[in-house]
Amino acid sequence: MDVSRRTALKVGVFGGAALLLPLERTVGASTALPPRMPSSSLPVPFTIPFARPPVLYPVRTDSTTDFYRVVMAPLRTEVIPGFQTNFFAYNQSVPGPTIRVKRGRQTVVRMINQLPAKHPVLNYTPWTSVHLHGSPSAPQFDGYASDVTNPGQFKDYYYPNTQPGRTIWYHDHGVSHTAENVYMGLAAQYHVVDPMEDSLGLPRGEFEVPLTISDAMFTTDGSLLVDNHDGSGIYGDVILVNGRPWPAMKVKRRKYRFRVLNGSVSRSYNLFLDSGDQFKVIATDGGLMPRPMSVSSMRQGMAERYDIVIDFSKYPAGRRVVLGNRSPKNNIGYPNVDKIMAFDVIGDGFDPSNNSVPDVLNPDDPVMALKVADAVQTRTFDFGRSHGQFTINGHTWEDVVKSGFTRIEANPRHGDTELWVINNLSGGWFHPVHIHLVDFKIVDRNGKPPFAYENGPKDVVYVGENESVRLLMKFEGRGKYMMHCHNTVHEDHDMMAQFQVFDDTTPSIDPLSDPCTTLPDGQL
Ligand code: C2O
Ligand code: CU
Ligand code: CU
Repeated sequence: MDVSRRTALKVGVFGGAALLLPLERTVGASTALPPRMPSSSLPVPFTIPFARPPVLYPVRTDSTTDFYRVVMAPLRTEVIPGFQTNFFAYNQSVPGPTIRVKRGRQTVVRMINQLPAKHPVLNYTPWTSVHLHGSPSAPQFDGYASDVTNPGQFKDYYYPNTQPGRTIWYHDHGVSHTAENVYMGLAAQYHVVDPMEDSLGLPRGEFEVPLTISDAMFTTDGSLLVDNHDGSGIYGDVILVNGRPWPAMKVKRRKYRFRVLNGSVSRSYNLFLDSGDQFKVIATDGGLMPRPMSVSSMRQGMAERYDIVIDFSKYPAGRRVVLGNRSPKNNIGYPNVDKIMAFDVIGDGFDPSNNSVPDVLNPDDPVMALKVADAVQTRTFDFGRSHGQFTINGHTWEDVVKSGFTRIEANPRHGDTELWVINNLSGGWFHPVHIHLVDFKIVDRNGKPPFAYENGPKDVVYVGENESVRLLMKFEGRGKYMMHCHNTVHEDHDMMAQFQVFDDTTPSIDPLSDPCTTLPDGQL
């Protein structure tokens, strides 16, 4: 059925949970927290083998579209050797399965909420809203926070996949509980594979590897410990890569492309190789950079994606290279959070094709061609804190909810280019700021050029302590979209706003116009 007809049919049944005010917030009850698992019970770094998340295959395809089915349900599994941990998982995998789609093919993903009626420890209702982060989805399929799907319901999401190839991800965005739901495991990579990249000779297949980095803390019985530090952040003492603590990966003596996603709730990283060698950054959130950038370290905030190429050919077999973390400030430190994973070089033979990084990757990216002089409007967004809440221009998402979803922070016109200034006027927090719908170019930070690795299309920008960042973006699409801090604890408490892209002739679709559907008799 086509999207507009389907939407029209469902408008009549809308109502209920999405309109409730978010009263069920999780409070930071620091005094009642269970004891943390002692470091002596945690695995020694680099003793657990690396693994890639499973790849999800469509349940059906036709000439234009791939159809997928994803069930969100509890998962009990071993992450810390000798302990069982309860997660919320997409298709029984944490992180969830990787979806890979060719640019230009549509996808429809049925997201089925089979989570329990209440979170087993925190007691909130795990309603969900799935956001495909890095996709110019229509408003009703963008994971609008208040467009929630309750346990026992499902929603079909339509994704156009028209954007240039890139590493993106799907994760939960349910209003007020995004942080807990993501921390529980509801996050996964999604790759838009672009035939334009095929001729470049970049590492692929076995040598193209997703790395989703996250952090977690466990109680003495192996449960996830959730301490949101009075609404400011959830930090773990265990670093997970694709769900495994400090794994070790065997690598052959050649180049690898890693699709690195910071999937943490609140922790940022500054990644480097302990060999002191540089690596090449080839793609940012929005896909290939105009040219690769060699760096010896890289600051990566939550939700940022960087595709990097590491060349292991110069190391002898038997050498171990560690991917380390020099923590940016305002993260909570623990003994081994300075380590991410290890690469163990092996002497096995390998396929020598697709083993290069050309000097020019995507020179004509339209986002990177934007100029300050193109901007018809300049807008300022102050990310701050007042009365224990995190705010954007003094407001919270609760103000948007209370307005009946009419409150908007900006109203750019379809087709216009605008300059957005994002200010973090505090020394106490950093805010990785995400703007839905668009890709942007970072013009400068505190008047200086962005870091070398930021010279590509972006949809999240690290706005560090006392930083002011200027962004250029062109608005395509129509309708209301969110922008927020991607410390999802800040987002939930309540640093999120919306903007509305308007068009003089075409009305925009309400993000709440395609509510979820109840499962017949609780069945799929
Ligand atoms: Cu990755 Cu609005 O989020
Ligand atoms: Cu997004
Ligand atoms: Cu923040």
